[in-house]
Amino acid sequence: MNSTDPVLHVDHVYKSFETHAGSLEVLSGVDLVARRGDTVAILGESGSGKSTLLSLLAGLDAPTRGRVLVEGYDLERLDEAELASFRAGRLSIVFQQFHLMGGLTAIENVSLPLELQGVPEAEARAAEALDQVGLRDRSTHLPSRLSGGECQRVAIARALVVEPALLLADEPSGSLDARTGGAVTELLFDLVDTRATTLILVTHSESLAARCNHEYVLVGGRLAQQR
Ligand SMILES: Nc1ncnc2c1ncn2[C@@H]1O[C@H](COP(=O)(O)OP(=O)(O)OP(=O)(O)O)[C@@H](O)[C@H]1O
Ligand SMILES: [Mg+2]
Repeated sequence: MNSTDPVLHVDHVYKSFETHAGSLEVLSGVDLVARRGDTVAILGESGSGKSTLLSLLAGLDAPTRGRVLVEGYDLERLDEAELASFRAGRLSIVFQQFHLMGGLTAIENVSLPLELQGVPEAEARAAEALDQVGLRDRSTHLPSRLSGGECQRVAIARALVVEPALLLADEPSGSLDARTGGAVTELLFDLVDTRATTLILVTHSESLAARCNHEYVLVGGRLAQQR
């Protein structure tokens, strides 16, 4: 990475899906630049393509046209192994439905990405990450023995334990009640702030969007900057 490279550069990205009814163009020339420590909210109506865009930013799917560069690397030009290690170490995702491993305890969920990378002292670092989200005393609980808000805090600890440059969050409070969701997102903002992590937050909430430095609306397949 060049020191002047933005953490995220989305360069005129298009995405179409082939459906029975023909080709469906969901993204029609999305441009976005985010630098270290930026917090970016993406609003937009249901079906406007927010989750589709996040999956391209995560390298989980490829654009039909255009490029996604993370820390200067074109995700499409990385081979499978490079992409996997990039995803494990440089970017993390928090989903609405947590996506924890049901058979693993809280601490095992958090230490897993470190262990996959062969990081020494994975468990000690996972314990520290759980402590930062206030769940040290729940570390041996399985997800089925945790509340929704606790599960999302475990997912946040798992996302941040690798110290990613880029954190993608898709409606992280979407399946929580308003109070719990608010507390979880406050925690998320605090943690990205102290680490200067770049955050891309997809949300339906105007008040959460207002907490970000920049705000965009996805409309007509493009991002329109609000501020
Ligand atoms: N794999 C796919 N194949 C075909 N169409 C798809 C596929 N994935 C998404 N779509 C369509 O793309 C459009 C955008 O979907 P997407 O999930 O990105 O919307 P969204 O903005 O995240 O909506 P929500 O706010 O409800 O989560 C929708 O019309 C959806 O049906
Ligand atoms: Mg979505």
